[in-house]
Amino acid sequence: MRLGTYPIYSRDWHGIDLVDVAREAGVPEKTVANRDVYSALYRRWARASFRASPEWAGGKQKVADAIRSTILRHAPPPELAISLGAGLGLVEQHLIRSGWNVELQECQAESLDYARRFVATRVWTTDFAGLPSAAYSAVLAIGLVYVFDTAGYRTFVRECARMLKPGGLLLVWDHDPRLPLALVKRFFDRYVRGRHDLRWGWLRSPAVHTALVASQGLQPIDARFFDARIDEVPPPSRVAGFQMPAERSVALCLLFRKPMRDA
Ligand SMILES: C[S@@+](CC[C@H](N)C(=O)[O-])C[C@H]1O[C@@H](n2cnc3c(N)ncnc32)[C@H](O)[C@@H]1O
Repeated sequence: MRLGTYPIYSRDWHGIDLVDVAREAGVPEKTVANRDVYSALYRRWARASFRASPEWAGGKQKVADAIRSTILRHAPPPELAISLGAGLGLVEQHLIRSGWNVELQECQAESLDYARRFVATRVWTTDFAGLPSAAYSAVLAIGLVYVFDTAGYRTFVRECARMLKPGGLLLVWDHDPRLPLALVKRFFDRYVRGRHDLRWGWLRSPAVHTALVASQGLQPIDARFFDARIDEVPPPSRVAGFQMPAERSVALCLLFRKPMRDA
């Protein structure tokens, strides 16, 4: 396992059994959740009328505010932005209502059918390679990059760099991991209790994100950290890139700029 990176697993999402969803999609739970799993998950959630806790839905407005303020620290409002892996578009609808021009992209259509009820914007269900070059002043990756392995993350950043105009911004919003004590619990659950969870992908320390993105030529220009209420907290103290268990950051927001000219 690469230092500063560890796999994540879970079983329950808003009351939905994820292993059951993976079985329905015909995907072994050891495989990282893919388009078929997300498609089945959103279909299942649609049948439950997309019920989520009011705190979870309310948090999306605060995520939108945090993203907007991070970008505005460095640039005017983007002429045209795209949010990749936009899911139900819950964050983006706040950005769009605030006057931003944000297109949505997904690897499956189920969730975007829901998003279309709330926003009139262009939606893409192509993969990244099908998106236009040098078209966007900002690319948003909100709760997305954890799905990629290291090679997939690098390819993803290359595609983002291609889509961005010179000087454009890539914003990465992701979980901010603590020391991976959860892996000890998972080992116990998996091998002692025989309980299976769905593999979601990988969590990474901010240093690992930054190194991966910078390796593809984008310059890191900002890093902010947020607690469970999406209030900003100071950068937490870390060991090997992971924050100590008592620290409060649950989300990191990293901003990168595409140089005006290729190096
Ligand atoms: C945790 S959800 C985040 C959704 C939304 N961005 C949010 O923050 O509420 C991750 C999303 O990534 C999408 N996804 C996974 N792999 C993808 C890929 N290769 N291309 C585009 N979207 C992808 C999934 O369908 C899912 O909607």
